Amino acid sequence: VSTIENLQIKLAARPIGMPKRSDWEFAHSVAREPEDGEALVKVLYLSLDPAMRGWMNEGRSYIPPVRIGDPMRAGGVGIVVASKSPAVAEGDYVYGTLDIQQYATLKAAGLTKVDPKVAPLTVYLNVLGMPGMTAYFGLLDVGRAVAGNTVVVSGAAGAVGMTVGQIARIKGCRVVGIAGGPEKCAYVRDELGFDAAIDYKSEDLNGALREHCPNGIDVYFDNVGGATLDACLARLAMHARVVICGAISQYNNTTAVTGPSNYLSLLVNRATMQGMVVFDYAKRYPEAVREMAGWIAEGKLKSREDVVKGIDTFPETLLKLFRGENFGKLVLEVAAP
Ligand SMILES: NC(=O)c1ccc[n+]([C@@H]2O[C@H](COP(=O)([O-])OP(=O)(O)OC[C@H]3O[C@@H](n4cnc5c(N)ncnc54)[C@H](OP(=O)(O)O)[C@@H]3O)[C@@H](O)[C@H]2O)c1
Repeated sequence: VSTIENLQIKLAARPIGMPKRSDWEFAHSVAREPEDGEALVKVLYLSLDPAMRGWMNEGRSYIPPVRIGDPMRAGGVGIVVASKSPAVAEGDYVYGTLDIQQYATLKAAGLTKVDPKVAPLTVYLNVLGMPGMTAYFGLLDVGRAVAGNTVVVSGAAGAVGMTVGQIARIKGCRVVGIAGGPEKCAYVRDELGFDAAIDYKSEDLNGALREHCPNGIDVYFDNVGGATLDACLARLAMHARVVICGAISQYNNTTAVTGPSNYLSLLVNRATMQGMVVFDYAKRYPEAVREMAGWIAEGKLKSREDVVKGIDTFPETLLKLFRGENFGKLVLEVAAP
């Protein structure tokens, strides 16, 4: 019988606007023993994602909301401590939907083994994980970016944005990043090799887009929505592709989402705007991981994680995403490996 103490952070209330500490319940229990086909996983690193804000809301989306009283949903990497499945063994490092807790008992079939010799464990939550897959398929499949294109990406210093820009460079595109603050802009330009970066907090976005995209935008990869989407729509090139990946500027709205008013630019430029959900590409993840692991090994693709220690900090750490305080993929360290 398990005597392993477990701390779970459960959704206590559906937030209005920014989530508050009182929207969470810290619940202490004993980790459940695995049954046939299950494994008990010690949680090491959890992925904190903007999408979590949407999962806290009632209502239909691409996956059901987290129910009140359930542990908060989260992807994570951990180590198997007990297994009743041939799929994984004690000591294996795995990725899965581990949720915001110290120990997860779950079906082994939902776990993917990860190899810390190929890349540090946190990279499996970033470039070689969900944000990396989003960048790869969003840019290449939905955005159909090809050499010579001008690609603009917002949220450029974040998990998805950083990888979008780097892949676009690898593919021979001209890349302009939009990010908040001089430090993030300098990073994507000087360290990641973007051709230009625009600080939307201090620069005139329309003027800067005119300057850096003299022939218009062929692919706009949108992570933020709102005014930035409108400014990019106004600069589209003929047959441009707009990839709707996310709209973080709208996630904590207490009023209706603000939609783009410049959408007739799609008509004038025979352009398309398409939404994407990364899970639709699950069958093709291995091909992307193979190619991206190759780029990492060749030094062409960098992964940057912003690791915050301590499961107790979860309610405040999550908010870093909505305040622009994370620099790279936001990861919560629950236990050191
Ligand atoms: N469709 C999919 O399948 C899928 C999958 C993964 C992620 N996503 C979406 O992709 C986007 C990026 O996710 P991520 O995990 O890579 O997060 P991230 O970019 O690492 O972190 C969020 C960043 O958003 C920016 N931001 C926050 N509030 C903003 C506002 N009001 N206006 C403009 N920018 C704001 C901040 O950067 P600055 O400091 O630069 O403002 C912040 O650091 C999100 O919209 C997310 O929902 C979609």
